[in-house]
Amino acid sequence: MSNSVFRHTPLFFGVLCLITPATQAAVNFEKDLLPVLTKKCIDCHKVPAVVNGQKKDPKAGLRLDASWAILKGSENGPVLTPGAPEKSGMYESVILPKDDDGHMPSKGDDLTADEIKLLKSWITEGADFGGWVGNTEGMPLGALTATTKAFKPRPHDLFYAALEKDVKPLSDDVLAKAKAAGAQVAPVKVESPLVRIDFLTGVSKCDDAKVAAVLPLKENIVQLELGRTDITDAALKTVAQFPRLVVLDLRQTKVTDAGLESLIGLKKLETLNLYGTEITDAGLKHLAKLKSLKNVYLWQSKATEAGVKQLNAAIPGLKASIK
Ligand code: HEC
Repeated sequence: MSNSVFRHTPLFFGVLCLITPATQAAVNFEKDLLPVLTKKCIDCHKVPAVVNGQKKDPKAGLRLDASWAILKGSENGPVLTPGAPEKSGMYESVILPKDDDGHMPSKGDDLTADEIKLLKSWITEGADFGGWVGNTEGMPLGALTATTKAFKPRPHDLFYAALEKDVKPLSDDVLAKAKAAGAQVAPVKVESPLVRIDFLTGVSKCDDAKVAAVLPLKENIVQLELGRTDITDAALKTVAQFPRLVVLDLRQTKVTDAGLESLIGLKKLETLNLYGTEITDAGLKHLAKLKSLKNVYLWQSKATEAGVKQLNAAIPGLKASIK
C-alpha cells in the first residue's frame, strides 16, 4: 500500500476546492465511472476467481473492483495518484496509443473520448470514491483508511458499530493461522475489528476441522459463509460459540435438523441461509427459539409451507421463505 499517496490527499483536496469552479459538477464515481470500469476493465482486473477448476488471478495483480484495491495498485505499485492523472497508470494506460503493449483495455472496446474525460476529471478532482467500497474479499484489515474520508454510515454500518464495542482487532498471528486453514478473512466495514469469513471451495475444501480452526476468531466473526462446503452438524457446534454472528450461510450443506439445535444460543443471528439442505419442519421448531432472526431462506429444503408459516408466526419481524 502506498502511504505517500494518502499523505498528500488532504492537500490535493484543499487546493482543488479552491480552484474548481463551483458551477462544475463533480464526477460521481459510483454513478458515472464505475459502470465504465465494470464494462471495460473489471473482467480482467477483479478478485481471484475459480473458473473451470482453475484459479484466475487479476491481470498485473491489479484489482479495479474495490476502492481499497484501486488505491493499493498493481504488483508494480500504485496506479492512482489523486489530483494527478498524469501520474496515474489507470489514466495513462487508457490514453496510450492502441499499438502500445501497455494500452488499456488490452482487448475489447476502448474508452470513448467522453469516458476518458470523465476518468481524468475524477482523478483531477481528488479521486473521491464517495463511500463506494466495492468487493471486500481479500481486503487487508485496516486497508481502507484512505477512503474513509467520504464514507457515509449506512444503517447496517451503525448496527455493526454497536456490535464492535469491546472487540479487539485480530492479531497477525491469529489471522495467519485462519488463512492457513483456507479461511478468507475480511473486515465487514472500514477499520472494523468485525470480520466476514468465507472458504474458497474447490481451492481448499472446507470441512468441520477447518471451521474449528477459526474458533480463535470467535469474538470477531459476524458473517460466516459455509455454503456448498463439506461441513456437517459438528461444525455447527463450533459456530454456536461465535457470540456476534449475524449472517450464516449453510446452503447446500449436509446440516440436519439436529444440528440447528446447536444454534439456539446465537443471540445476534439475523440471516440464515438453508437453501438446498435436508432441513425439515422439525429443524424449524429449533429456530423458533432464535428471536433475533429476520431472514431464513428455505428454498429447496424439506420444510413445508405450514412449517414456515408457523416459524414466521413464532418470531415477530421474521421473513422466512420457502420460495
Ligand atoms: C482483456 C483483459 C484486460 C482488460 C479488459 C483490461 N486490462 Fe488492464 N491489464 C491487462 C493485462 C494483461 C495487463 C498486464 C500488461 C503487461 O504486463 O504488460 C494489464 C495491466 C494494466 C495496468 C498496469 C498495471 C501495472 O502497474 O503494471 C493498468 C493500470 C490497467 N491494466 C488498467 C486497466 C484499465 C483502466 C482497464 C479498463 C479501461 C483495463 N486495464 C482493462 C488486461 C486487461
